[in-house]
Amino acid sequence: MTKVLVTGGCGFVGTNLVSYLLDHSNWSISVIDDLSEGKFEYLTSIDNFDDKRISFVQGDVREEEDVEKAMDGCDHVVHLAAKTDVISSINNPFDDADVNIMGTLNVLETALRQGTTRFVLASSAAPLGEQEQPVNELKVPSPLSPYGASKLAGEGYCSAYAGSHGLNTVALRFSNVYGPNSWHKGSAVALFIKQILDGHTPIIFGSGEQTRDFVHTEDISQAIHLSLTRELPANYELFQLGTGVETSVDQLYSIIKKYLNQNDIDVPDAIHGEERPGEIFKSFCDISRASKVLGYEPVIDIEEGIASTIQWFLENYSS
Ligand SMILES: NC(=O)c1ccc[n+]([C@@H]2O[C@H](COP(=O)([O-])OP(=O)(O)OC[C@H]3O[C@@H](n4cnc5c(N)ncnc54)[C@H](O)[C@@H]3O)[C@@H](O)[C@H]2O)c1
Repeated sequence: MTKVLVTGGCGFVGTNLVSYLLDHSNWSISVIDDLSEGKFEYLTSIDNFDDKRISFVQGDVREEEDVEKAMDGCDHVVHLAAKTDVISSINNPFDDADVNIMGTLNVLETALRQGTTRFVLASSAAPLGEQEQPVNELKVPSPLSPYGASKLAGEGYCSAYAGSHGLNTVALRFSNVYGPNSWHKGSAVALFIKQILDGHTPIIFGSGEQTRDFVHTEDISQAIHLSLTRELPANYELFQLGTGVETSVDQLYSIIKKYLNQNDIDVPDAIHGEERPGEIFKSFCDISRASKVLGYEPVIDIEEGIASTIQWFLENYSS
């Protein structure tokens, strides 16, 4: 039976991916996470471990022994564990680089030693920096933050391990992901919902006209699954992933407001604050390559995705 290692598998994207793989495959899943951000309860809320399809190692992706143990017998690797906060990366670039570069290198080395057949890296739109939109795989990267730089280094090592050792690697540049199990996240969707439920008035940094490509975890999980199972043209592949739809932060706020109002929750108008350094103004992506090569097709539109994410928060969130 196929076995896959999910690093960072107690985090937001990780737990949603584990849930998707339980439903869409018969694979067994090994999870490694140091629980610095993710929650073990997210995993236990989706599976009771009774049929032993999931195993868990609490460990650090920078530690050879921890990764060896978690990867034992795995056919594939999905490397999600990372420092993910742009602002923290500006304040603490060494911490960001340590986990995102050295951690990735350690997981790649172990994947090579253990003879795994495919390695999927979670990258981001952050390596690209400010670009004419929509972005695609041909744009020349120019990161605005250390986080963008460390994610770009991860892509570089995936390409290098394919080129030097023939390891089959795929880097997926996620746009802004939202969905359930995002209680601990500081990204726009989770933050706005938490602030409103806590009775605070959210601050939109900048004019509110800045745009993002908000993509639901179900669609990201679909793309990861396809990246592990499809025949691919080259042994290093890079895909831009999102929905292809541009939404401004002000529009997002209105959608959140609409669905919270439908649940009888009052929503204040957001305050507009100063723009944050290192953040991209406009961002959405061209997903045509992922559609053509992977057969990727996002199925959750923003209204449906926000409605179900709000439902998850209403059922699970307590401040
Ligand atoms: N959420 C998004 O919008 C988004 C966008 C682009 C890219 N990504 C990428 O997707 C991946 C997953 O992000 P997420 O949003 O689920 O973040 P997350 O913080 O929820 O998940 C990351 C997980 O990695 C774990 N982790 C951190 N350092 C570790 C270490 N040294 N060893 C072991 N585990 C460690 C954390 O505890 C956490 O559970 C990351 O690589 C991130 O850069 C996310």
